[in-house]
Amino acid sequence: MKNRHLNLWPTCLAIAAATSGTLCGQSVTTGADGHSWTLTTRSFSYQLQVTADSLLQMNHFGRNEPGRPYTWPLGEEITVRGGYSSRTPVLEAVFDGRVRDTELAYDSHRITDNNGYQTLSVTLKDKHYPLSVTEHIRVLPEYDLLEKWTEIRHTGRKGQPIEIENAQSGTFFLPKNRYGLSHLSGIWGAEMQPQHTLLTQGTKTLQVKDFRSFGSSFFAIRPEGEQNETAGEVWYGTLQYSGNWRTDFEKYPTGEVQVTAGINFWDQSVFLKPGDSLITPKWVIGYTREGTGGASHNLSAYTREQVLHASHRHKIRPVLYNSWYATAFNVSEEQQLALAKTAKEIGVEVFVIDDGWFKGRVNDQAGLGDWEVDRNKFPDGLKPLIEKINAMGMDFGLWVEPEMVNPNSDLYRAHPDWVFYYPHRTRHTGRNQLMLNLAREDVYEYLHSRLSALLRDNNIRYIKWDMNKALSDPGFPSASVEEERAVRIRYIENLYRLWETLRQEFPDVWFENCASGGGRIDLGMMARADFCWLSDNTDPVERTFIQYAYLSAFPANAMICWVTQEDWHQQHHTLDFKFDVSMCGVLGIGYDITRWSAQEKELARRKIALYKEIRPTVQTGDHYRLVSPYDNNRSVLQFVSKDKRETVVFVYNLAEYPNNALPETQRPQTVRLRGLAPDARYRVEGTEQILTGSALMEYGMDFPVKGAFKSGIFRLRQAD
Ligand code: DGJ
Repeated sequence: MKNRHLNLWPTCLAIAAATSGTLCGQSVTTGADGHSWTLTTRSFSYQLQVTADSLLQMNHFGRNEPGRPYTWPLGEEITVRGGYSSRTPVLEAVFDGRVRDTELAYDSHRITDNNGYQTLSVTLKDKHYPLSVTEHIRVLPEYDLLEKWTEIRHTGRKGQPIEIENAQSGTFFLPKNRYGLSHLSGIWGAEMQPQHTLLTQGTKTLQVKDFRSFGSSFFAIRPEGEQNETAGEVWYGTLQYSGNWRTDFEKYPTGEVQVTAGINFWDQSVFLKPGDSLITPKWVIGYTREGTGGASHNLSAYTREQVLHASHRHKIRPVLYNSWYATAFNVSEEQQLALAKTAKEIGVEVFVIDDGWFKGRVNDQAGLGDWEVDRNKFPDGLKPLIEKINAMGMDFGLWVEPEMVNPNSDLYRAHPDWVFYYPHRTRHTGRNQLMLNLAREDVYEYLHSRLSALLRDNNIRYIKWDMNKALSDPGFPSASVEEERAVRIRYIENLYRLWETLRQEFPDVWFENCASGGGRIDLGMMARADFCWLSDNTDPVERTFIQYAYLSAFPANAMICWVTQEDWHQQHHTLDFKFDVSMCGVLGIGYDITRWSAQEKELARRKIALYKEIRPTVQTGDHYRLVSPYDNNRSVLQFVSKDKRETVVFVYNLAEYPNNALPETQRPQTVRLRGLAPDARYRVEGTEQILTGSALMEYGMDFPVKGAFKSGIFRLRQAD
């Protein structure tokens, strides 16, 4: 039987790693003893060593102090269940069906070039059983980041399988101190809400158990009291994984903190047969002394330049129109063409039909799974519509939700066993749908053939991939018990494979990642997608918060923001304000634009034209979060082009109070910019005002917007 090698990396990276060329400087140095290593980035070092009793131990993760020996052990690099088991384990294995302890000893190491970045790989072996554990740490100096992952291998040629009950991507220890933890949590309509807590003795676990995460695995840890956007020590990280994940923050009575992250092995395990291996997803971790803003720059630049799908990574994102908020399920060729005509007039580049275009889809109770055009709505198929949209000069895009099936569909009637289910147990529906068991090869093949036929037969340049139900009843009755135990992990493996295969086959297509809004935003999806739908909540005030929080870890060029008629608080916001809120990411329009007046169309046309001018800076520049709406009644975001020649500042005023009615901390009077060239002279566009970078950064500009729910976009460019 073929060996299983479970690998949760993007394929493109693995290929690049095998063929890459130059080394990116010396970031891994080996100590004189040959068994200690220092990994160095721009501003931190990470130190490891093999101890006299052959354990792999970490001594330091923090400020880079060249020459300082780190000999004080903080903890083991690969903590295991075994012996006294006093630490959060990275590995929990079962040998011979009953030996539940693992005993590892150093075996070997190597330093390789992994797509231009040095990677230290240290292999430990069990002292008795045929199990090897390799920890890989890839160093990305300019992003102040490490990528960690573990590779677990059954090294025997024959014999019993080894059950892996838990294999985390990595762990690290922080020295005794009082630490605060910040992370992003959320629910539908309120994604990515920042949370802050003190890490007290015990374990704080962040986790996902049903494939739905409206927050994120991003975390930031700071010494208590050092809570600043621009300065102070921060350890931070996030996982490249879209299935069930967990991060444990364990504070010991002695004061140290251990952070461990990876796949959430709750209710699952992987059986490795002789020759099998399991490679965990990557965990990206970093350290900065530049506050949470530093963490946000490093992670978002890394995601933009290293993670987002390579085929479109460096492309400027188009302006979108999506008809969901205008027409919902009730789509027809004539009405979509009317929308497209106006979309073209105002400057849209890609026209996307959302849900409702396929057979039987008159509401959310039928149709998912069949993926054939509804001939009642589009009697001649999609082709004539697409041709007309293409003739207008726009690309065409379509919504799909491949992982789901409605019980009321031909697919379910033919294959009721293709969904997750347990015999004699309820099949829990959500939004009238069930989840297909993508761990099944026949389900994978079906979805691949349906989606590639759709993309081959129609000139589709944009796919919005949705996912609207949490995982329930994860049974796979026709599989062996061993396979069934790993079904969630296999599902994600096949999901990634499907995305990667389609992307290879259709290299010109943009892919959007959506899960009832932001239910699956993570670096695992970002490695396969070009952008994500952040939230179904498109109320501009609510969005100001959600977008600000998202930008604490992720890049603006992956954040789709639509202008819609949504008005959750009945504030009747102006179109002008709505556009300004949506222009700090990837701009989209979701209104019924056929109802717009001539003035509204003209305003939209002007805004979209402005967006096209500023989007290179917004989409490829560094962002700074200058004023937080969570602390103020104002919010300010700034984007700086890589060459620092241009900066764009988005200013939102969410309330207006009489002078002194609020403490000054909550109504900043000036906006101090960041990231500019200090000696360069910047002209504020539309004025004769010229200011040096240092004046803008040290004194700033007077808060430039008055009035509740008013906004402004300020563009400054170097004058010389
Ligand atoms: C949920 C998504 O978040 C929406 O944008 C829309 O695509 C609907 N699904 C369609 O059913």
